[in-house]
Amino acid sequence: MNKIIYLDAAASAQKPSCVVDVEMDFLRKSYANSGRGICARATAVDDMVATARRRVAEFINADANQIVFTSGATDGLNRIVNILTRQPWYLQMSTFAVSDIDHHSARLPWQELMYDGHIREMLKCELDENFDINPDSVPKTDFLIITAMSNVLGRAQDVCAIIANARNKNPNVVTIVDASQYVVHEKIDVKKWDCDFLVFSGHKIGADTGVGILYIRDADRYFPDKFGGGMVAKVTDTSLNLYTSPDKWEAGTLPLTQIVGLMPAIDYLEKNRPNHDLIKHAYDELAKNPRVKILTTRDAAILSFVVDGMHPLDVGALLGANNICVRAGNMCASWIHARMGIPGSIRISIGSWNTMDDINKTIDVINKIVK
Ligand SMILES: Cc1ncc(COP(=O)(O)O)c(C=O)c1O
Repeated sequence: MNKIIYLDAAASAQKPSCVVDVEMDFLRKSYANSGRGICARATAVDDMVATARRRVAEFINADANQIVFTSGATDGLNRIVNILTRQPWYLQMSTFAVSDIDHHSARLPWQELMYDGHIREMLKCELDENFDINPDSVPKTDFLIITAMSNVLGRAQDVCAIIANARNKNPNVVTIVDASQYVVHEKIDVKKWDCDFLVFSGHKIGADTGVGILYIRDADRYFPDKFGGGMVAKVTDTSLNLYTSPDKWEAGTLPLTQIVGLMPAIDYLEKNRPNHDLIKHAYDELAKNPRVKILTTRDAAILSFVVDGMHPLDVGALLGANNICVRAGNMCASWIHARMGIPGSIRISIGSWNTMDDINKTIDVINKIVK
């Protein structure tokens, strides 16, 4: 059987053995619930969760009590909207700003608020000729959603300058960063960025599905959006005494196995970031095919393209039939495809498991399909 060439890291990363081993060991040898037990095994799980939280905090230069475990980036992005709309001062807010490189998960919760009449207006940041957010174009707004790296274009945005400009225009702006793709390729420093919220998913950094990170800068400023076990110090029929962050944000049982896998995943990713030379090589080779139109820049972390006369889904299916896994379609990024006037594209995205040989074989197959 031919080997599978997995070039779909931006959808979800393959898991290094260190992650699989840690999770299997936990399930086989040390499993218990966290935050509930008083036996040694349960407190050992509490320690594992605390260690994972500290490691995530260090990874993005946050404090451990600013790190909330969610089920993924989409969950985090929806929760942010739910958190903000519960705050008493929310009623004075009227605008949110987005950009056309957003993933559906970042913008749809806000568009839905607007359709329901709970926020007045959607504003837009402008994109330059590379489809990067122009920091000078950031409008004066109450809420700003920033996609730190598009899942179609793979270019790191200047989050620092974007937020600084937004704060110049409105010192009370609430800034939300979707770092789902960025986190795989570049070091994040939430203190330097000065963002209020940031999210990413575990599964894209080599950890498991079902766990995500929500960073909240002023984690004790907000009233929580979810209620249940493990988040209240005292409750009566008429009163609620909340724990401080992070406990107040984590009602119910956490995805423990997935949380345990976060630390090895981060350790591994920091030593084995994707090799962007592979993308540059793919760019140089694909550029020679006259029917291929590359949509990304040579220095991007991802390569997306379209083929003259072929639907992206057909190209993706033909590559799949040759054991090459790529993503094709609109990739939950309708707005950027609409801007480019195309229904979708084909995306090559890499992880540390990919080699130059994978790229060469993929180019050969593309050149056979697209003559
Ligand atoms: C930029 C971006 N934001 C958000 C998401 C949503 O991530 P998840 O499906 O893990 O919640 C993705 C997933 O592809 C993404 O690429």
